[in-house]
Amino acid sequence: MDGNGRWAEAQGKPRVVGHRAGVKSVREVVRLCREAGVGSLTLFAFSSENWNRPPREVALLMRLFITVLRREVKLLKKNNVRLRVIGDTQAFEPKLQQRILEAEAETADCDGLTLNVAANYGGRWDIVQATRQVALQLQQGELSVDQIDESMLQRFMCLSEQPEMDLLIRTGGEERISNFLLWQCAYSELFFSEALWPDFADAAFAEALDAYASRQRRFGKTGAQVADVTVAQ
Ligand code: FPP
Repeated sequence: MDGNGRWAEAQGKPRVVGHRAGVKSVREVVRLCREAGVGSLTLFAFSSENWNRPPREVALLMRLFITVLRREVKLLKKNNVRLRVIGDTQAFEPKLQQRILEAEAETADCDGLTLNVAANYGGRWDIVQATRQVALQLQQGELSVDQIDESMLQRFMCLSEQPEMDLLIRTGGEERISNFLLWQCAYSELFFSEALWPDFADAAFAEALDAYASRQRRFGKTGAQVADVTVAQ
């Protein structure tokens, strides 16, 4: 969800105004995903590296997360959206941790869209936490080294119980992954939008879906194999 700060600065306003406007886009994109039949949406709300921002901006973001979780949970539930938070949430203040648990519990029975919010998340952190869990099992003799393979590690990665990520959209004109779902995006299509996150709405979302629809996903096969079912067999 890149571009909140620049959106606000362009209007001569403090960066937090951009983050608040970004919440409106979150609501919009959740609606658009539900309408498009998307099963799982993951939003990068706060990266492991975002602690390096000015303390005031970090504090305002934490306050915003608390407010948003409290305010939006009813609407999520009404719309059958299940909320999940991924990341190292233990680093957050107790009040925010509590809100996260409450919001997850309140929407636990929803089985429409799953909305994952990545908070204090980093793709490298994810790989490390999965590796630690594997190492622990190894140490406890529940696992042998030759049992470690991709599918074993996958089981310990965040979002392992959800479908593979088909499309990764980055807004705000930057063209990099910035430590988002590194393991999970191995075969995702990438789409970079010039729109700043607070401006990301129907048109930009449709553009991303159109681009996705025009891609040929080969998963290592040749174009001919994928295009021609007879050859693929
Ligand atoms: C990146 O823009 C955005 C963030 C670090 C915060 C995004 C958070 C929200 C929109 C709140 C959503 C809350 C929930 C609970 C889902 P930036 O500040 O890096 O923008 P810039 O590149 O223009 O500086």
